[in-house]
Amino acid sequence: MYASFKSIGAYVPPQRLTNKDLEKMVDTSDEWIKQRTGIEERRIASKEQSTSDLAYEAAKVAIERSGLANEEIDAIVCATISPDYFCMPSTACVVADKLGISHVTAFDISAACSGFVYALNIAKAFVESGIKKNVLIIGAEKLTPFVDYEERTTCILFGDGAGAAVIGTTDKKEESVIDVHTSSDGSFQDFLITPGCGSKNPCSQNVIDERLHFMKMKGNETFKVAVNTLTKDVKNILEKNSMTSEDIDFFIPHQANFRIIDAVGKKLSFPTEKVVLTVAKYGNTSAASIPMAINDWYESGKLKSGDLMLLDTFGGGLTWGSSISYFAQK
Ligand code: ACO
Repeated sequence: MYASFKSIGAYVPPQRLTNKDLEKMVDTSDEWIKQRTGIEERRIASKEQSTSDLAYEAAKVAIERSGLANEEIDAIVCATISPDYFCMPSTACVVADKLGISHVTAFDISAACSGFVYALNIAKAFVESGIKKNVLIIGAEKLTPFVDYEERTTCILFGDGAGAAVIGTTDKKEESVIDVHTSSDGSFQDFLITPGCGSKNPCSQNVIDERLHFMKMKGNETFKVAVNTLTKDVKNILEKNSMTSEDIDFFIPHQANFRIIDAVGKKLSFPTEKVVLTVAKYGNTSAASIPMAINDWYESGKLKSGDLMLLDTFGGGLTWGSSISYFAQK
């Protein structure tokens, strides 16, 4: 029995934050942001919405498209770095409750932008070992409360949103999740970090005053490691599965920066029509970025059942991962 990518769904909050809006908030320009990142706008969740609300909306769509009833889901894995609550309960438990699913394995994972591919890896292992049958995997982020809107290098990058998928079973190789690879290097832990409000620097007035509860990034250093690591990672997974870029229908990378995607796509000889791009519309939505991109391509009619997807991601930790999988939504 193989794991199979049965469905996709996403939720995109309606409110937009454009580059022109950011020009009024920090010393930046629409031209700089577009040129250095490819981002034109990002979506912002409302004050009333938390990450689980975004996740719930995406999950509803994914479950409906899978043709399953809610109670047939036997595990929920939510990848997020912006959970509803700081320590507990997990966002996955809150989503399970909103979906009306009780007595289900539900937990969050923290792998920053790589979270969705990590969740896919867990779901594949659950399903192929026979432990679970239908795993709902979610990448959901309300990042805006953790973004410092006084810091121009990071605040231009991030947005909110959620994506979800149901990973079920199949006996057909041409409907399977062929391979998933995940990895990390903790020696780069300070490249993307929220220094305050964890056990190392518990929340205090001083932590708040020093703005340590916001995400910090060594952008330039991260950029270089990202391009090299992503290129190597994709080459490895293709070689391991005796494939080349020609075998892939769509290359769906994490949407962090157009220049990173462009550099990796060119190094790997992917023609532009095979490279999925949503960064201009949504910015970097961390763990939600890949499922939101898959959903965008599906809803625009480009991604069809039977297409072979190559997912590739990179984020805080540092973490990274890739996957070769058929899109098997009926
Ligand atoms: N507007 C105008 N100027 C700016 C802005 C801005 N918003 N931000 C920075 N600058 C300036 C800098 O101050 C600097 O000026 P200086 O030369 O006078 O010192 C200049 O622009 C260049 O700054 P860099 O930081 O070198 O800019 P860079 O070209 O590297 O772009 C960016 C910055 C967009 C952050 C890029 O480095 C990047 O995308 N990095 C990778 C991010 C990433 O992949 N993250 C991983 C996933 S995220 C996650 O896991 C949550």
